[in-house]
Amino acid sequence: MKTRIGVIFGGRSTEHEISVISASQAMHAINRDRFDVTPIYITKDGKWYTGDALLDVANYRNIPALLARCKQVYMRPETGNFNLYLAKKPFWGSDIATTLDVIIPVLHGSNGEDGTLEGLLETIGIPFAGCNTLSSANGMDKITMKMILKDAGIPVVDYVWFTDKQWFRERDALVERIESTIGYPVIVKPANLGSSVGIGRADNREQLLDRVSDAERYSTRIIVEDLVENLQEINCSVLGDCDEYTMSVLEEPIKTGDFLTYEDKYMGGTKGAKGMQASQKRIPAELPADETERIKFLAGETFRVLSCHGVSRVDVIIDRDTRNIYVNEINTIPGSLSFYLWEATGLTFEKLMERLVALAIKRRREMAQKTQTYDRNIFSLGGGGVKGAKGCKGSKI
Ligand SMILES: Nc1ncnc2c1ncn2[C@@H]1O[C@H](COP(=O)(O)OP(=O)(O)O)[C@@H](O)[C@H]1O
Ligand SMILES: [Mg+2]
Repeated sequence: MKTRIGVIFGGRSTEHEISVISASQAMHAINRDRFDVTPIYITKDGKWYTGDALLDVANYRNIPALLARCKQVYMRPETGNFNLYLAKKPFWGSDIATTLDVIIPVLHGSNGEDGTLEGLLETIGIPFAGCNTLSSANGMDKITMKMILKDAGIPVVDYVWFTDKQWFRERDALVERIESTIGYPVIVKPANLGSSVGIGRADNREQLLDRVSDAERYSTRIIVEDLVENLQEINCSVLGDCDEYTMSVLEEPIKTGDFLTYEDKYMGGTKGAKGMQASQKRIPAELPADETERIKFLAGETFRVLSCHGVSRVDVIIDRDTRNIYVNEINTIPGSLSFYLWEATGLTFEKLMERLVALAIKRRREMAQKTQTYDRNIFSLGGGGVKGAKGCKGSKI
């Protein structure tokens, strides 16, 4: 029997459309002789749909018409229940649309790449590709990620972070701290968005106030970073799990302005969105051998200390004046799943998808060997504290 893969994509994210493109590329790369593929599209308002019409990107020009050709579905948050249910129970017959063996989340940004969906999948206990809840959440949040990397000795730019409420209450002190510890120019970012949304440069105090108000519209948590003026950006994909992983060749994305924009990343100067693989880039990046090695090492370390899984892309910044290298971010579900980097490394997209499935199943098997529940019912034990549940009152805590 073929392994049944569910590919989940779309979602409540500013990167919804990019996810549709990445998922479509991924679904077409999966070998249908070995796998059955069920597309599961999450709309911008969070409803799940399935149907073959979801396989063709052209159909997304008219979403209502597309959804009319699909069926609304859901999974139940029950451990061990891998069924996909029809939201509208049919008059007769089963309400099970299909049963899945493994899920590949291809969601970018919030409500998908950030651990929320991964949490649901862990609750259900179905094998799934990519980072678990913990590493997804840590990788998504630009503040938490930088804290962990810094603690592990991985170079990151200097930063100051705060919440919107802190900014409201202690603005003067925060501005003072930013100016004395980092100094202008700075770059202001909402902590948990991708695709350069809400990101802006500030060269003075007035601009800083403006940029923070901008970023506040997107997130309660804001990070202000030292801006590397004369920078070179390099990306490296990492594949595996945190005990055994390999790095791809490096890419240098080409930007049109001060920093990489949404358009640079996904439009590739051509009409219509084509996804990350369509953007202008140099593969492999032209760098001295020692810098190439150092970037690969830092990418692997980033993947390892964040306990990542599956395929990620680590983006680094090189200061052209000093040649200092900083890890800027990790994308735990990278655009186009970084297939173009793996192809350049000698692994086909088809094989990459197989590897993701194998890794997902391996992790599930390893997890199953760990004790998950303590098999003793304290209510069934006689004596002392158990006569009537007393909670903390009856215990010694
Ligand atoms: N510290 C920095 N100094 C200079 N440019 C930066 C810095 N951080 C980010 N950028 C620029 O902004 C772009 C988007 O920032 P990034 O942190 O990668 O956010 P996103 O998650 O939106 O991709 C980067 O690709 C880079 O061009
Ligand atoms: Mg980025």
